[in-house]
Amino acid sequence: MATLGLGLFLGGSVIAIPVVTGIAEGVEHQKKQNEEAANETRMVKFNIHVSCDADDEIADEVDSGMLVLRHDRVWIVPRSPDGKQPLPPDPALKLDPPLHAFAGFYIQYPDDARFPAERGLVSTISDDPPMLNWIYVDNATYGLRYGNRSTSITHMVGEWDWTADESCMMLDGWEGFVAVDEWDGEDEDPGTPWGKEGLRWAVYFDKDDNGLKGRRKGRDMFEVQLERKLQSEEEQLKQLEDADKKMQVKSRGGLSTQFTAPAADRKAAWAKKGKK
Ligand SMILES: *[C@@H]1O[C@H](CO)[C@@H](O)[C@H](O)[C@H]1NC(C)=O
Ligand SMILES: *[C@@H]1O[C@H](CO)[C@@H](O)[C@H](O)[C@H]1NC(C)=O
Ligand SMILES: *[C@@H]1O[C@H](CO)[C@@H](O)[C@H](O)[C@H]1NC(C)=O
Repeated sequence: MATLGLGLFLGGSVIAIPVVTGIAEGVEHQKKQNEEAANETRMVKFNIHVSCDADDEIADEVDSGMLVLRHDRVWIVPRSPDGKQPLPPDPALKLDPPLHAFAGFYIQYPDDARFPAERGLVSTISDDPPMLNWIYVDNATYGLRYGNRSTSITHMVGEWDWTADESCMMLDGWEGFVAVDEWDGEDEDPGTPWGKEGLRWAVYFDKDDNGLKGRRKGRDMFEVQLERKLQSEEEQLKQLEDADKKMQVKSRGGLSTQFTAPAADRKAAWAKKGKK
């Protein structure tokens, strides 16, 4: 049986993902996982647009938004007319660093303790240096967060999926995503780092399907749909080229290809299964 090795740079460290375990009774399952892991469709990079059907004026703030990653959380902000760029909720504020849109793909979460293995979700968290993090649901708050493997491993890291037509995000078999109002009510001198930047709507997963009972603290909440917007081949190619400038690409042929960073660039993170 061939071993499929995927080299991933996540949160600054190289992670080799063992896809074959060799457990006899798991072979059929494992085979399926190998095919899944080798499935390039799952690794096509996408952004996430948000839509919200709620019949409420303030729900308009989340409808037609897109996801960004900031302050360790996942936020909904307005998007540019072409749908490509996130816009600061307060146009008067110049954000430094600028907003970073979710741009990610599915890949198996590397953890032997999770059996069967779970399909995880990664996103870039910065382009320069290129860094990837896992997207996970915080066990205590049910808020969506991002972090490296050691940060995410004790939380809910999967199973991430898409809906039958592949158009929307699912987690744990359903689309239980909600937007929660994190505004602390202070117009003058907001007390939180996100408040100061005008960020207001954070994404949560309604894990127990009870409207975040006991976790919402009376804050406004709306059900949202997270729509996958595939990046064009041009966009993906451009990112690869940018990454190539920083990386030495080392191919081992066949199914497995690994991108290895020069030592000086170890902090940079980039993942891409290479076979074409
Ligand atoms: C890869 O994923 C696509 C989309 O779900 C599916 O149609 C295809 O059969 C998969 N291929 C393999 C080898 O699993
Ligand atoms: C993972 O992230 C945490 C929190 O940002 C950090 O303290 C830790 O050093 C990181 N671990 C690795 C292996 O990079
Ligand atoms: C988080 O929940 C998972 C099950 O979803 C559990 O296995 C894990 O121990 C929990 N971690 C913490 C830190 O509570």
